[in-house]
Amino acid sequence: MNIAAPSSRRRPDSMRDLDRRTVGHLANGGTTDLADAPLAVPASEYTDPARFETECQEIFGKLPLLACFSGDIAEPGDSFTFDAVGPSLLIVRGKDRKARAFLNMCTHRAAPLVATGQRRKLIVCPFHAWSFDTQGKLVGVPKKECFDDQDRAARNLIPVPVGEWGGMIFVKAHPGDEDIDVEAWLGDMGPQLLALDLAKARPITFERVDAAANWKYCLDTFGEAYHFKVLHATTIAQMSVPDVALFDAFGPHHRVCFTNNHYKDCVGQPETDWPDVPYTGSHLIFPNTILYPAAHQGGIGLYRLFPGESVGKCFTYMSVYRASHAPDSITDQSLIDGHNWNIGIVGGEDYSVSEGGQRNLEHAPKGFKMVFGRNEVALQNMHRNIDAIIGPAEG
Ligand code: FES
Ligand SMILES: [Fe+2]
Repeated sequence: MNIAAPSSRRRPDSMRDLDRRTVGHLANGGTTDLADAPLAVPASEYTDPARFETECQEIFGKLPLLACFSGDIAEPGDSFTFDAVGPSLLIVRGKDRKARAFLNMCTHRAAPLVATGQRRKLIVCPFHAWSFDTQGKLVGVPKKECFDDQDRAARNLIPVPVGEWGGMIFVKAHPGDEDIDVEAWLGDMGPQLLALDLAKARPITFERVDAAANWKYCLDTFGEAYHFKVLHATTIAQMSVPDVALFDAFGPHHRVCFTNNHYKDCVGQPETDWPDVPYTGSHLIFPNTILYPAAHQGGIGLYRLFPGESVGKCFTYMSVYRASHAPDSITDQSLIDGHNWNIGIVGGEDYSVSEGGQRNLEHAPKGFKMVFGRNEVALQNMHRNIDAIIGPAEG
């Protein structure tokens, strides 16, 4: 893979350093972190079915993908199914507390084994009741005399690459028995995420949102504050300063820090008077995952975008988790309410424009290119990293 390798490890950026950068932009009259130049992107990045197939195979079929948080399978015997890409996968915490992943496929006649969320000592197939332990070993075959010449070990569950680190469980969507080195994959992004204490995050609710747009068109909407005062005039722009954002790349991953309104009061004030605010960077874990701690509300938003059944379709898994530091005054219901508000904005505002833009790209004149401005630096970064894997789009 040719994408930028994560550099040597560093500590999480301090919130005060990020505060200084943000207040500096505001003191400058509302500047923002910038790319060196605009970037033109061919419409075919969003519309070419052949390129879409290559993305599915080379990116979603081969890279580590965040399947769930550790809290989704908190105890031995807990299981989680991940069906977003390629084969259905089953992630199980064994009695040794290790997370393992398998094809969610019985080795008798390939029936799906389980759905998310049942704690069990044995995984029992719903078709003929073959049973497997939580480490994937075949331990029970009804009428076993009918299968006497079979090598039992060859009928254990089929493993899938998996890795757990920092409260996150990554998988690759194909058979294989390697451990994914999540810490190495995240590189310098890892320490930023460790600061969120994801290992103690608890799942609250989940929603799937479909959109008639290419997955990248929808993902692009998460990466810039340029659209806040126009598209989100009555929602996000009421709480944050449009156009002002920090950008940091960590290998193929990146972080964008948007500007909460409270920063306006810090301009011209001594740092000692600035409020101590929790870390709220919006992280892109390449290629498809947005992880955003809404720290003041005690929630952690996890938005994962996946290719749909064709180049012009996608879906998003939108989840919210309860952060370990959330005070008791934050109820689970308030997290659900906040999550629903976010879904309303993403689906009703961002994705509604994405769908219209997608349709227009599919009918655009040959050779049309859209352009990412210098202030859309995170989008430039993401598209360059995709090109680094599968080559530039034609057009
Ligand atoms: S397919 Fe699972 S026991 Fe038959
Ligand atoms: Fe948006």
